[in-house]
Amino acid sequence: MKITYLAHSCFLIETSRARLIIDPFLTGNPLAPVKAADLNVDYILCSHGHEDHTGDALGLSKRCGAPIIANYEIAEYFAAQGAQTHGMNPGGAFSFPFGRVKLTLAFHSSSVNAGLNPVYLGNPCGLIIQADGKTIYHAGDTALFLDMQLIAKFGLDVALVPIGDNFTMGIEDAAAALDLLKPKVAVPMHYNTWPLIAIDPQRFVEAAARTDHTVEVLKPGESLSV
Ligand code: NI
Ligand code: MN
Repeated sequence: MKITYLAHSCFLIETSRARLIIDPFLTGNPLAPVKAADLNVDYILCSHGHEDHTGDALGLSKRCGAPIIANYEIAEYFAAQGAQTHGMNPGGAFSFPFGRVKLTLAFHSSSVNAGLNPVYLGNPCGLIIQADGKTIYHAGDTALFLDMQLIAKFGLDVALVPIGDNFTMGIEDAAAALDLLKPKVAVPMHYNTWPLIAIDPQRFVEAAARTDHTVEVLKPGESLSV
């Protein structure tokens, strides 16, 4: 399985059977290494409704014929705009042709802006993806929470964790999350996209090393094979 960082919280996951994109946000992302128009994907997964996680979901879904997998409200929101979707909710898992996806808790919010009124799109989620004998956890946007220790029971090969602070965990909380999640390797996300979440990822590497956790920092466009 090949995991390519497409900046912010967006990853391309290439399994033996499918190309998945998580939290597609390329259009308007100053760090995006590719354009949405240049990608072909089979499935789109969204952790929550915010535009920096769903911005390119509808366009990719329609152009590629790729279903959007997300919480029920996000799924209905995009289905009403003509996308194929698969709605789920935290605690639920489903076996897709490429592998199994489970939605987890995340402590955050989930909305899109429609004029002056935000439209609330269900609960924010994390994602556990099991494919090709590997288990990947994408934490979405979340605070640190103690139930992350339950997610460790899946035996995580890779944890994708936000470190940018302000909207999500910062470095210290993300390092503490690794004590609960116990992944073989962690990859930081959701940082440096804007000044508000500017952070040196090496500080996360150092904080995680103090408790013997391995971190791989991927620059936008770089990949990790597991
Ligand atoms: Ni968010
Ligand atoms: Mn976000």
